[in-house]
Amino acid sequence: MLAPRPSLLFFASGLLYQASSVMGAPTTSCSHSKPAQRFDYVIVGGGTAGLVLANRLTEDPTVRVAVIEAGTFPEDVSGNWSQVPGYAGNFITGAPEMSWNFHTTPQVGANGHSFPYYRAKALGGCSSINFMAYAHTSESAHEMWANQVGDESYTYSNMLKYYRRTMNFSPPREDVRFRNATPQYNAVDTATGGGLDVTYASYAQPWSTWVAEGLEAIGIPRRDHFINGNLLGQSWQMNTITQSNGFRSSSETAYLRPYLDRHNLALFRNTLAERIVFNQRKEATGVEVTTQDTTCFISARKEVILSAGAFQSPQLLQVSGVGPAALLQRFDINVIADRPGVGQNMEDHITVPLSYRVNVETASALLNSDYMAQAIDEFNNEAAGPLASAGGDYMAMEKVPQELRAGFSRETVRELPADWPEVSFSVYPNGIPRSNLTGEEPVPGANYAALLATLIAPQSRGSVSIASPRMSDPPLIDLNLFTAQADREVMIAAVKRARQALQSQAMAPILIAEEYLPGNGVQTDEEILEYLIHTLNPLFHAFASNRMGKTSDPMAVVDNHGRVIGVKKLRVVDSSSFPFLPPGPAPQIQVYLLAEKLADDIKRG
Ligand SMILES: Cc1cc2nc3c(=O)[nH]c(=O)nc-3n(C[C@H](O)[C@H](O)[C@H](O)COP(=O)(O)OP(=O)(O)OC[C@H]3O[C@@H](n4cnc5c(N)ncnc54)[C@H](O)[C@@H]3O)c2cc1C
Ligand SMILES: *[C@@H]1O[C@H](CO)[C@@H](O)[C@H](O)[C@H]1NC(C)=O
Ligand SMILES: *[C@@H]1O[C@H](CO)[C@@H](O)[C@H](O)[C@H]1NC(C)=O
Repeated sequence: MLAPRPSLLFFASGLLYQASSVMGAPTTSCSHSKPAQRFDYVIVGGGTAGLVLANRLTEDPTVRVAVIEAGTFPEDVSGNWSQVPGYAGNFITGAPEMSWNFHTTPQVGANGHSFPYYRAKALGGCSSINFMAYAHTSESAHEMWANQVGDESYTYSNMLKYYRRTMNFSPPREDVRFRNATPQYNAVDTATGGGLDVTYASYAQPWSTWVAEGLEAIGIPRRDHFINGNLLGQSWQMNTITQSNGFRSSSETAYLRPYLDRHNLALFRNTLAERIVFNQRKEATGVEVTTQDTTCFISARKEVILSAGAFQSPQLLQVSGVGPAALLQRFDINVIADRPGVGQNMEDHITVPLSYRVNVETASALLNSDYMAQAIDEFNNEAAGPLASAGGDYMAMEKVPQELRAGFSRETVRELPADWPEVSFSVYPNGIPRSNLTGEEPVPGANYAALLATLIAPQSRGSVSIASPRMSDPPLIDLNLFTAQADREVMIAAVKRARQALQSQAMAPILIAEEYLPGNGVQTDEEILEYLIHTLNPLFHAFASNRMGKTSDPMAVVDNHGRVIGVKKLRVVDSSSFPFLPPGPAPQIQVYLLAEKLADDIKRG
């Protein structure tokens, strides 16, 4: 019998917390919380990027900003799920009111499977529900970014001041972490006084301490951390968590909540942006919105800024007349600017689990109600214990080593800079991953753990395109994942490499029985490929669907300042407006970084 395709939600479901009371979101009319009538900037999407911009722009009390957000405060919908790191996985199956409930189109690279694709509908956006990794990208990725958009301000050394603006670091609590799980970090690279609270989770997964040994045994060196422009090596993962109470730090908790009383900031909650409105000069003049059944217009004197994320920012451009002309005409949309790149070029990371039954405690234990009750007490009383961690607390990145590259085809051997990792290995102790290809049932009550092999340098590119002229209908989301031959070859090598670590002497003491996934029946390249096709998942890091580039590039959507090419007074600042998906475990921090940088550009005029 075939078990259902595993998904990250399934891995995480061991943490499912059942007792949340789902409260109805408060209703609003097309009025807002503050009496201001005109706005200088209208920001669409109060998510990760949008709230950083709203915060920085309203630091000047004379600048009036409106934020339009389809959701509301996470706590109004999902109690403490957004606060307690260990509940992060709950969102993917629970709290549908906080999800856009997107699905991808059937993916040819994954046996035609249509993946659920989580996007948060809430203040803070995906930063209110994600797995809280904090890291920089590599120095060479910044170099490439600067070159591709023709702007030296994107080099690593020039962006460091903005990285520092995202970080308010607290050291790990050694009193509650295991002694053999002490992160080595270099305080010189950390910063205090920035927006997000950052620390190491106040609980270390026992599994992670063993994975570290296994990764070392296969030659992956330990590094201080991933916040100095170098990603190659292994390290404990920093998290966007407030050390003192153990709660998630998101763009909502860090950039909005403490500033809600700013008189120049107006928040439209439960409000859907329907269309950007342009005048004859192709200047964006405001946004048409719907809340409840009322449609109204919110005007922007200076600019409209889209921060609706990787799917809805391109969708909103397309329904408003900016995009590939042929697509827009199919829906009788008046073409304001024919920009064929809108919705193209989209990238995501993909991942696959390798797993074993183990003799250390993993999140499978949280399925036990006594254990869960104890974990809740420990979190409530000490901000520690298993619920203090979202799970993925250990991480390694590398290039596929020489001995596994021998059979690579020419297109796979791409010219990537020396410090640009191709694959990552990260721990996933939460629950029991399964695959369509194994019929083996897990042993009840046993501990299982996984190592995720992830493609960090994907070559497949996907797209977002409208299926109707309305924002209330979901767009077609085609990740086109795992179609490039290069991605297949690199992922086959990644599975072999993960196996080397798991099968090293260093990990032998904790493994019970044979490999659970993929299992010993999967050995040849063809068998591994089959496993990948049936078992991989996207990692929810969709990026670059409104590609930043030079204005001369016909496929570029925004310029180096995030300004939409072909129209005026309109920007896109979010995960969509990148030239590519930067390597590393923390795309969210790239979003914060870009928002901090472009807020500065906007303020300087
Ligand atoms: C399950 C999961 C785990 C992840 N784990 C990590 C991790 O550990 N580390 C990491 O770095 N990254 C992680 N990510 C990715 C990261 O969270 C996202 O890349 C990032 O938050 C995207 O930011 P954004 O501003 O582009 O979009 P979002 O944060 O999604 O914000 C978009 C906002 O716009 C609103 N919106 C959209 N359309 C409209 C409209 N028409 N009208 C009004 N409002 C609208 C949405 O409701 C939302 O609030 C994860 C993502 C997911 C889903
Ligand atoms: C979360 O909220 C629930 C419901 O109010 C409460 O019972 C629980 O103690 C809270 N804390 C944790 C860690 O679950
Ligand atoms: C895995 O099995 C489920 C249920 O049988 C099916 O819906 C899904 O499409 C399958 N996935 C793949 C990739 O075969």
